[in-house]
Amino acid sequence: MICSILLLLSLTSCVSGRLVVNVTQTSYQAEENQNITLEWTWTSSDTSLKLFSISCRLLAELRPLVLFDLREGVEVPETQDQQFAGRVQFNKDVLREGRLRLHVSRLRINDSGLYVCEVIINHSGNSRSCRLTVTAAARDRPEPETPNTPSQGTDPPAGSGPQPESRGRIGLYCGLGLTAAALFALCFCYFLRKKKDFCFRGGFDEVTGHQVK
Ligand SMILES: *[C@@H]1O[C@H](CO)[C@@H](O)[C@H](O)[C@H]1NC(C)=O
Ligand SMILES: *[C@@H]1O[C@H](CO)[C@@H](O)[C@H](O)[C@H]1NC(C)=O
Ligand SMILES: *[C@@H]1O[C@H](CO)[C@@H](O)[C@H](O)[C@H]1NC(C)=O
Ligand SMILES: *[C@@H]1O[C@H](CO)[C@@H](O)[C@H](O)[C@H]1NC(C)=O
Repeated sequence: MICSILLLLSLTSCVSGRLVVNVTQTSYQAEENQNITLEWTWTSSDTSLKLFSISCRLLAELRPLVLFDLREGVEVPETQDQQFAGRVQFNKDVLREGRLRLHVSRLRINDSGLYVCEVIINHSGNSRSCRLTVTAAARDRPEPETPNTPSQGTDPPAGSGPQPESRGRIGLYCGLGLTAAALFALCFCYFLRKKKDFCFRGGFDEVTGHQVK
């Protein structure tokens, strides 16, 4: 881990830091087998892909794993780690606009970690990282319930988080409301009973079924 960070720092210091690289999100959350899109952005006046070199790694526990490697505008699939084989797609069209979108499919729990991309354009480069946390898929939830998000993968499943909590809160409020109503009714009845002896014995006589009074 420390070695990989040092390696990265030394790599970054080899090129000048003029280029400002940013991430659209510093952390992502997803469930196992879901897809996600990790995104890096930068501003550069150079738009010729031949000047672009990008290297993205997952800083895993044991060693950094190469996720994506682009040299002078050409993807180098040979350097990609087996763990990501066939699971990473990138959008070449948006590269020129200063946007790297890496679509990682069928996420695994061990894809979790810090993802660092170093972007070098015309000898000027920089790197940024974001964190991905992949959790085990919830077993008690049926599959079709997964909400169809408008932008697939870009958003963490934020909608699935607060729902059970708010449901619980609604239940609590209902319970409190009902209790309050019941208390109010009791007080009201007590008041009426004192006044007219009506409420607790009911409007009807229980035995005869005839109206009292
Ligand atoms: C990076 O991007 C975020 C969100 O898009 C933005 O709020 C932030 O100001 C950017 N930082 C830099 C240094 O450009
Ligand atoms: C995940 O990505 C794979 C490959 O890109 C695709 O075939 C699949 O339909 C995607 N699944 C979802 C839920 O978007
Ligand atoms: C990550 O998990 C997958 C199964 O989910 C396994 O095949 C793979 O070997 C694991 N990779 C590492 C580096 O532990
Ligand atoms: C690369 O950058 C240098 C200055 O930093 C500039 O003079 C040159 O035109 C750039 N090359 C291209 C192909 O844009």
